[in-house]
Amino acid sequence: MEQNNKPAITNRVSMCCCVIVLLLSLVKVAEGRAFFVFGDSLVDNGNNNFLATTARADSYPYGIDFPSHRPTGRFSNGLNIPDLISEKLGSEPTLPYLSPALDGERLLVGANFASAGIGILNDTGIQFINIIRIYRQLQYFEQYQQRVSALIGEEAAVRLVNEALVLITLGGNDFVNNYFLIPFSARSRQFALPDYVVYLISEYRKILVRLYELGARRIMVTGTGPLGCVPAELAQHSRNGECYPALQQAADLFNPQLVQLLSQLNAEVGSDVYISANAFAMNMDFIGNPQQFGFITSKVACCGQGPYNGIGLCTPASNLCPNRDLYAFWDPFHPSERANRIIVDRFMIGDSKYMHPMNLSTIMLLDSSTT
Ligand SMILES: *[C@@H]1O[C@H](CO)[C@@H](O)[C@H](O)[C@H]1NC(C)=O
Ligand SMILES: *[C@@H]1O[C@H](CO)[C@@H](O)[C@H](O)[C@H]1NC(C)=O
Repeated sequence: MEQNNKPAITNRVSMCCCVIVLLLSLVKVAEGRAFFVFGDSLVDNGNNNFLATTARADSYPYGIDFPSHRPTGRFSNGLNIPDLISEKLGSEPTLPYLSPALDGERLLVGANFASAGIGILNDTGIQFINIIRIYRQLQYFEQYQQRVSALIGEEAAVRLVNEALVLITLGGNDFVNNYFLIPFSARSRQFALPDYVVYLISEYRKILVRLYELGARRIMVTGTGPLGCVPAELAQHSRNGECYPALQQAADLFNPQLVQLLSQLNAEVGSDVYISANAFAMNMDFIGNPQQFGFITSKVACCGQGPYNGIGLCTPASNLCPNRDLYAFWDPFHPSERANRIIVDRFMIGDSKYMHPMNLSTIMLLDSSTT
């Protein structure tokens, strides 16, 4: 924050004051830990609104319970998982990287690079046309670091990134919007499911290593949720509300191999950089027993149409439930804000079944005592 920011003309009192005010405000914003988000629609804070894509949440009733009561591009009735993690960090929500409002000192809060529809693989989500694939998200992260360097100096920028919290959520679309998208999809003709999972994990490894190379040192990595239990899949494959076995099997294969990968990577870097978040278990708690969590259903989406409100998209013409807090699913694919709160509580204080090797409250405690 100090060094090369000294004003050259020290007799100009007003200029001096300006610089001091600017520095103070930078320090103030930088006090909270920066937060960076990568991934798909589960964590997109609105990047896709700035793109020509069909994967968007920019119309009513998306955002109906958001503080502004307007759509923001989040695939939620209100707040999503990154927003609620920001809340736990005591920070404002991360802005989408493509938002023009993400500038100046607001860069120091972090940034959200996620884009609905993407996956681990470059060919996942091609049907959505113009989305920010994961390697592009990583390029934007580099560009972001250059912008922050210009603002606070390179050394401070490196520290900001090293000390930041990172969340990455990928994988669901590689099954739903690629392998299982259509019968006899290219990927399903190329790979048997177990081999596809091995391939996905080998590609995910490269992405996670790259994040480390770019300076990330606390990376929470979510596995996939119970993909076969979302209203969209029930509508297509379920007679009696049972989860679609093919997608459940995909998650069953993928998640343990991801946990294993993260342990290997931690061993390689010699530190607990990669934290595995068991999204499957977090979601199954309330999907398996919705009443216990105050939901009237975990099968029917609040917003949608057809069986389970699971056909098509949530649009202004869809059925809309009056009380979103009573539904585990907001739309055919995405949890409601209330379900997101249950998930993020498990991030925060869940035991090793949910967060491995440690939960977010432990991360925050550890990292605050080392700085
Ligand atoms: C995906 O795209 C990136 C960037 O364009 C490229 O570096 C990478 O090799 C591609 N991955 C595969 C498996 O083709
Ligand atoms: C998670 O958080 C709680 C308290 O918030 C703590 O007691 C517990 O030991 C933590 N578990 C792990 C595995 O870090």
